Amino acid sequence: MLDGRRILVTGVLDRHSIAFATAARAQELGAEVLLTGFGRTKRMTERAAGQLPAAAEVLELDVNSAADVERVRAAIETRWGALDGLLHAVAYAPPDALGGGFLDTPAESAAIAYQTSAFSLKALVAGLLPLLDAAGAGAPGAGCAGAGAAVVGLDFDASVAWPSYDWMGVAKAALEAISRYLARELGSRGIRVNLVSAGPVETLAASAVPGFSQLAQVWSRTAPLAWDVEDPTPVADAACFLLSPLARAITGEIVHVDGGYHAIGCPSPAATDAVSQIAVPVPSVPSTPPTASPAPAERALSSPAYRMKEHPPLQGAGR
Ligand SMILES: NC(=O)c1ccc[n+]([C@@H]2O[C@H](COP(=O)([O-])OP(=O)(O)OC[C@H]3O[C@@H](n4cnc5c(N)ncnc54)[C@H](O)[C@@H]3O)[C@@H](O)[C@H]2O)c1
Repeated sequence: MLDGRRILVTGVLDRHSIAFATAARAQELGAEVLLTGFGRTKRMTERAAGQLPAAAEVLELDVNSAADVERVRAAIETRWGALDGLLHAVAYAPPDALGGGFLDTPAESAAIAYQTSAFSLKALVAGLLPLLDAAGAGAPGAGCAGAGAAVVGLDFDASVAWPSYDWMGVAKAALEAISRYLARELGSRGIRVNLVSAGPVETLAASAVPGFSQLAQVWSRTAPLAWDVEDPTPVADAACFLLSPLARAITGEIVHVDGGYHAIGCPSPAATDAVSQIAVPVPSVPSTPPTASPAPAERALSSPAYRMKEHPPLQGAGR
């Protein structure tokens, strides 16, 4: 399905990342994959890269740095000369933008959530545009003749308000709008832009969102299809479909991969108890991820020292 496609995958932090599952599936389906890693956590990304079906190179990328985006563009230009696919799997919100203090969040924190989690889709696509253009339908050297480049982002349904998700939810609403505008801008160049709206998946970022485990419980009890919060592969499979030529006439779309939760108006009686527990206000500094026995690197990431401005993704990054 992805034979010969050259795909850049952002957002791999460790083996639990949705982006890791997507990179692995893309390789199994025939793609060549490059990863990006962010700040001090790049070492974790490199370790994860070695656990993929085929080891992948990791490029340094802070999505908020124009210089980093340009370096990534230059590296891909040298290596492939074109880019057939891009997975945007990046999100971050400061602790005071999550967790039930919606009315108290300062503009600066909301702006950081917006820039990193939403505007970065535009920043990345615009920075890599010459490469996405070069993969255009029928372009010489294109991995799949007749199929232009595809961009896929990861969303959490922003059509409703969630407990605790707060300004990350607002950022996701912006991400949804940005993906539609990009689809509009880039369709005539043969570039498609779509989102996968995922149900809750246990990742390091998600575990830093207060109330995540209760939300996950409600989800599993309410979704018409079985939903396993430990399994990112259904989301990865849908992302790979959207990255593939099979989705060649789809753009500006949001595909829900959530066990059907979005289609259900009212939780089942079994889920209502768990629902009532989510809405409790929680402290704005998230707790240590609930992993029973985290690996040393993960312990380091959840330590106060890690939660410094310089390396923020885990303190508030969310679904
Ligand atoms: N886990 C869920 O329940 C869930 C549900 C729906 C959508 N999503 C979305 O999936 C995407 C991936 O998240 P995940 O849950 O796999 O968690 P994750 O922690 O594995 O991935 C988040 C990634 O964002 C990266 N990041 C943060 N700030 C960055 C920056 N400035 N520059 C570059 N990278 C940066 C981190 O390094 C990390 O790799 C996010 O957009 C998230 O909102 C997650």
